[in-house]
Amino acid sequence: HAADAHRTDLMTITRHVLNEQTKHPESRGDFTILLSHIVLGCKFVCTAVNKGEEQKKLDVLSNEVFIKALVSSGRTCILVSEEDDEATFVEPSKRGKYCVVFDPLDGSSNIDCAVSIGTIFGIYLIKEGAEPKLEDVLQPGKNMLAAGYCMYGSSCQFVLSTGTGVNGFTLDPSLGEFILTHPDIKIPKKGKIYSVNEGNAKNWDNPTAKYVERCKFPTDGSPAKSLRYIGSMVADVHRTLLYGGIFLYPADKKSPSGKLRVLYEVFPMSFLMEQAGGQAFTGKQRALDLVPTQIHERSPIFLGSYDDVEEIKALYAAQV
Ligand code: AHG
Ligand code: MN
Ligand code: MN
Ligand code: MN
Repeated sequence: HAADAHRTDLMTITRHVLNEQTKHPESRGDFTILLSHIVLGCKFVCTAVNKGEEQKKLDVLSNEVFIKALVSSGRTCILVSEEDDEATFVEPSKRGKYCVVFDPLDGSSNIDCAVSIGTIFGIYLIKEGAEPKLEDVLQPGKNMLAAGYCMYGSSCQFVLSTGTGVNGFTLDPSLGEFILTHPDIKIPKKGKIYSVNEGNAKNWDNPTAKYVERCKFPTDGSPAKSLRYIGSMVADVHRTLLYGGIFLYPADKKSPSGKLRVLYEVFPMSFLMEQAGGQAFTGKQRALDLVPTQIHERSPIFLGSYDDVEEIKALYAAQV
C-alpha cells in the first residue's frame, strides 16, 4: 500500500543529501560526512535540553560538542562559534575544505524557562591549498554552500538548505533519525505577523518606527498584524518561515548595528529565507551581500515574506 511504502521509505537527512549529491558528480561525500557530524551535535543538544540541563552548562556543553564533532569530522579547517572570541584553526592532519560558522545555542535566555531554543550554522568552502587564514571565513553570505538550524522545541526540527530550496526534518526519537516532514518549504508571499522586541521602540530610527506603526494601524484598510515575539531567533524565524510575516531586529540608538551576529545568525537565516522565496534586508542592503570584517560583527536585520520586506525597504529608501 502507498501509506506503508511511505512509512518504510525513510527519507533521512543523509539520504536526502546523498540524493542532492547526485547533482554534484565530482563530490566525494565530504559534505555528507560534515553534515552528519553537525546532525550528531544537534542530537546531543536535543537530549541535553530535554534532560533540562541549566543554561550555564548547556551554553558551554553545546559549544564543546560542536567543536569536537566538527574537528573530528576531518572535513573542516576554520570554525567560528558565537561562544569563542577567536576562530578555531583545525590542525593540518584533521583539516578539510569547509569553514563552519555557528551559534551552538541560540536563545540561551529562554533555556531555564523551557522555551524553544536552537542551533544555527552556515557552511563555506575555502580556497583549497593555501594555509587557511581568517579572511577565508569573512565571506559574504551569498557565498555560503549551505545553512540551517535545529530548533529544540515541542519536537526537534532540523531545517536545511544546500542552495536548491529548503527542507524540514523532524527527529523521530524512536529511530534517533531526522525524517523529512517538510519538503520544499516556501514562505507565504505576505504574512499577518510581525516579530520584534517592542521594548526597544524608543530607540528605533524613523523607517523602523513607521513600519511597526503601519503593522498596528494599517493605512490601506487591511487588518492590523499580530505581534509574536519568542525571543529565540530560531523559534521566531521558524514560525516566520512556516506561517509567513516579518522578523525584525533593527538598529537602535544604543546599538547602531543591531544585536544579531552577521556570520552565524543573520547570514544562515537570510540564506534560508531567500531559498524559501522570501528575502532579508539590513536597512541598507541585501543581507547576503554584506561583507563582514570581523567574525563577531553585528547587523540590523529585517527578514521574512517577500512583500513584507519590500515595504520596509521602501521606507528605508525614502529616508535617504
Ligand atoms: P543567543 O542566545 O545566541 O545570544 O541569541 C539571542 C538572540 C536571538 O536568539 C534573539 O532573537 C535575540 O537575542 C533576542 O534579543 P532581545 O532579548 O534583545 O529581544
Ligand atoms: Mn549570545
Ligand atoms: Mn544567537
Ligand atoms: Mn548563542
